[in-house]
Amino acid sequence: MAVIAQKCPHIKVTVVDLNEARIAAWNDPDTENIPVYEPGLSTVVAEARGRNLFFSTEVDKAIDEAEMIFISVNTPTKTYGTGKGMAADLKYIELCARQIARVAKDDKIVVEKSTLPVRTAEAVKNILQNTGNGVNYQILSNPEFLAEGTAVEDLHAPDRVLIGGDTTPEGQEALNALVEVYANWVPRERILTTNLWSSELSKLTANAFLAQRVSSINALSELCERTGADVTEVARSIGTDSRIGPKFLKASVGFGGSCFQKDILNLVYIARSYGLKEVADYWEQVIIMNDHQKSRFANNIVKTLYNTVSGKKIAFLGWAFKKDTNDTRESAAIYVADALLNEEAGIAVYDPKVPESQVFFDLDYLGTRSPEKNKQLVTNFTDPYEACKDAHAIAILTEWDEFKTYDWQRIFDNMKKPAFVFDGRSIVDSAALTDIGFKVYTIGK
Ligand code: UDX
Repeated sequence: MAVIAQKCPHIKVTVVDLNEARIAAWNDPDTENIPVYEPGLSTVVAEARGRNLFFSTEVDKAIDEAEMIFISVNTPTKTYGTGKGMAADLKYIELCARQIARVAKDDKIVVEKSTLPVRTAEAVKNILQNTGNGVNYQILSNPEFLAEGTAVEDLHAPDRVLIGGDTTPEGQEALNALVEVYANWVPRERILTTNLWSSELSKLTANAFLAQRVSSINALSELCERTGADVTEVARSIGTDSRIGPKFLKASVGFGGSCFQKDILNLVYIARSYGLKEVADYWEQVIIMNDHQKSRFANNIVKTLYNTVSGKKIAFLGWAFKKDTNDTRESAAIYVADALLNEEAGIAVYDPKVPESQVFFDLDYLGTRSPEKNKQLVTNFTDPYEACKDAHAIAILTEWDEFKTYDWQRIFDNMKKPAFVFDGRSIVDSAALTDIGFKVYTIGK
């Protein structure tokens, strides 16, 4: 919404949320304090805020005034009832739709921005038409393809914008209205229009295909370790085939983030609910492989540290699910930590952007052990050298650039010996570290 406001000064954009503290943070006079860390975002907000970009808690007023309403609420994986652990929880979508229906007094275009299972638009349409004030609604699907850490870049120059709408003349008119918004800065040939269901399904499957590549290369990483092949070399060899391409072939400790796992589980759930067992099993294997990669990384640490980490200090460099974001949702670090904590390890966490409260929130959320026990075993540091001091091992979970430029000699001097580094992101210079005296394990080597 901030980028739409920046690129379309003639359009008034109002972002509303029930959460007063969050809106207050978005209105913070110092745009460096906005709640989301994303390179370049504070500049965009600084440019548009107060001009044609507004943050407010007056939800009804904003609905009443708007011609086009984007629904961007969260759709977490259900934690209860049918589809528990797999299906998307559409509670917040439904509440939004009901609020729009109650308030709207003139025709609206409602845009699904949240990632939704296919055919959700039908539910939204039903609610709007049956509980509304007799006004007309058009529902569009406009899934977001930005990746975190490069969000502003991705929005300024997207590979494509996808907009799905009804094939009726009224549907096409609504669809064109949204095309005109994006056409202010996106070349028209990059604005794809489809029917509603194709658009909804495309988002889930784009993420499934990307995640599948990561799971594929991660599956090969284990085979490389056994055979003496090097996963980086294999990835380069595969990636130079122009039909395959070089992207998303970086072996890692496992993918994380708010989308991949959730969207695939969703896809699996949808396939299964249509009775498509093989289709569901096929995609589910992408998740199974990812879980295996995380536990394999943790098990390898335990095994290497002479089959016991109890009472040992293990330093975690990185907690976010990837670099340049403070987002930790589904981060591999959480699951690796959980496995090591089960072995009674002491964990020292350093992440340049993730606060201590988030680390404990993530661990407590798993419910594996009491919050007191987590507090007892996990310590957070704001200085990486302190985090690594007296550690038996360092585990690199996020590929933050700064990890490459640390004074590794200084880190080595202050660690217990033998000093181990488990590089889950292949980012440090393992030859240089080995020369210093570290015992280095790199995924896929
Ligand atoms: C993803 C999609 O890329 C984006 O289009 C969609 O809108 C939302 O989901 P995001 O979750 O922000 O974006 O991050 P992404 O860059 O796709 O990375 C996902 C995970 O895969 C991260 O944990 C990342 O570290 C991991 N990954 C990615 C690898 O392990 N290896 C790779 O080669 C690429």
